[in-house]
Amino acid sequence: MEFPMFCTGISFLILLIVFSLPSEFIQSPMDFGPLSLLHATNTASLDFGRIYFNSPSAVLRPQSPKEISVLLSFVSGSSYNKVTVAARGAGHSIHGQAQALNGIVVEMDSLPSSIKIHRKVDGESSHSFADVSGGTLWIDLLKETLKVGLAPRSWTDYLYLTIGGTLSNAGISGQTFKYGPQISNVLQLDVVTGTGEIVTCSPTESSELFYGVLGGLGQFGIITNARILLQDAPRKVKWVRAIYDDFDTFSKDQELLITMANIVDYVEGFVVLNEDALHSSSNAFPANLASIPKLQSGPSKIYYCIEFAVYDLPNKDTNNLDLVVEEITSKLRFMEPLTYSVEVSYFDFLNRVFMEESSLRELGLWDVSHPWLNMFVPKSGIAQFRALLLENISPSTFEGPILIYPMLRDKWNSNMSAVLPEFDADENIMYVVSMLQSANPNSCSQECLQGFLRRNNLITKIATDPMSKIGAKQYLAHYTEEKQWREHFGGKWQQFLARKSAFDPLNILSPGQRIFKRKYNTSPYTHLTVNSQ
Ligand SMILES: Cc1cc2nc3c(=O)[nH]c(=O)nc-3n(C[C@H](O)[C@H](O)[C@H](O)COP(=O)(O)OP(=O)(O)OC[C@H]3O[C@@H](n4cnc5c(N)ncnc54)[C@H](O)[C@@H]3O)c2cc1C
Ligand SMILES: *[C@@H]1O[C@H](CO)[C@@H](O)[C@H](O)[C@H]1NC(C)=O
Repeated sequence: MEFPMFCTGISFLILLIVFSLPSEFIQSPMDFGPLSLLHATNTASLDFGRIYFNSPSAVLRPQSPKEISVLLSFVSGSSYNKVTVAARGAGHSIHGQAQALNGIVVEMDSLPSSIKIHRKVDGESSHSFADVSGGTLWIDLLKETLKVGLAPRSWTDYLYLTIGGTLSNAGISGQTFKYGPQISNVLQLDVVTGTGEIVTCSPTESSELFYGVLGGLGQFGIITNARILLQDAPRKVKWVRAIYDDFDTFSKDQELLITMANIVDYVEGFVVLNEDALHSSSNAFPANLASIPKLQSGPSKIYYCIEFAVYDLPNKDTNNLDLVVEEITSKLRFMEPLTYSVEVSYFDFLNRVFMEESSLRELGLWDVSHPWLNMFVPKSGIAQFRALLLENISPSTFEGPILIYPMLRDKWNSNMSAVLPEFDADENIMYVVSMLQSANPNSCSQECLQGFLRRNNLITKIATDPMSKIGAKQYLAHYTEEKQWREHFGGKWQQFLARKSAFDPLNILSPGQRIFKRKYNTSPYTHLTVNSQ
């Protein structure tokens, strides 16, 4: 007997059929019954990056966490197979991280979406939270919580990403300096491990699994439910932009803004490579750009734009947002008179990238290849990194935003799997730099795309090389060799390995990250022993 005892008869049969079939057959239209292993593998081999297109042999559209558990119990329990399993959230990875070549993709959007809001107020502090299924999109969580005047505290720029997908990375945006990344705002998780165990974990219960999964690149288990901290939702947001022509002044002002966490609620910033970049980044920012003086153009002239926002949070001292903004801007050193602000609803503010999406879709420039590169850079290396970046791009033809903004290391929990630069003890500020480049198919061939990918590798190599003293780490890291991953994890590698052998000893999960090679199970009962411990 090579299958776990707790497989139900029918699902066992289905799985047995699947693994005894040649993969071509699995891809033909078939009804696989309650486990609905689908024929359609075209979405499961696609992601936002449109660089890798690895097809799985089968797709599972689970109706419950139990079905995921049955699948993983079976796969880890049967000997001599090399089947891998990848959860797929919204598939907004860049480098095939949610793909499983010849394996099984578990499409998390098929889990019944469930959002349960718990409002708790004791005295001054509120401990409200939402229990939300892992495949839910952040936009849907926002809509539900706003109905009762609550909202999560920490966000990504774009909301059509899943809870499980961003928690497997970090989830960062302009609120991270204040509340930490999304992984710092989770109270509890339900996870199905690589051996099929269903575990509820938190900082006090199965904490190794909890900390492992947060930022864990899908390596330790599949998140089926997360408990997300909520706060009272602001109604409106004063959203401000200020322009700089000097990087040093720009970054000093950003660093000043993140020390004002009592009044500032959001800080980001971007490089303005050309006048187009300013206008095309302004779809969601309803200011009258005609009133903005023309920026001097030319290949050598580069500007920087700080974005900050002030919310009308109910517990703030002052609710006159204009006064607060005035107080803040009086301390900044942007180019006079280049500051402008708008007032928008909290929902529109958080959902701002959706407007960019709509306009890019209209131009046919959304479903294109995205050779993106994201780096965490310690403050001590940011000037050098900026220079490296600008040396390696062509400002006049670069398409897409380049974001730069600071965050505070002490808002991250070092027990979690997320990798940060290795800091000097007295250094607390790091930047994220995101080169969100689109490869416009009208002007960029396959060859040109490959060129962008080689350039990204070069930038990564230099920025992470101890010799360069930049000290950067990739965010949403993409590497192909174990040696590179070992260097990436640095001092965290041993812990990562130990967690892997505890929770996914056969390396079944998220093969698209390309960290571990799938192992054979030579003894069918191994995982049952683990389970019964
Ligand atoms: C337009 C756009 C804007 C973005 N903006 C930001 C941003 O502002 N900040 C930021 O931090 N990131 C941002 N990202 C990156 C994004 O957070 C990651 O790509 C994230 O992985 C996407 O979530 P997803 O649901 O699409 O995950 P997928 O791409 O589906 O999966 C990502 C990885 O997580 C694994 N996984 C998926 N679901 C689960 C689960 N339930 N349990 C365990 N593992 C799972 C997958 O196997 C895969 O390895 C952006 C991406 C895009 C395309
Ligand atoms: C890290 O984990 C250890 C062991 O579980 C725990 O004692 C400690 O409080 C954790 N630290 C943080 C910052 O959560």
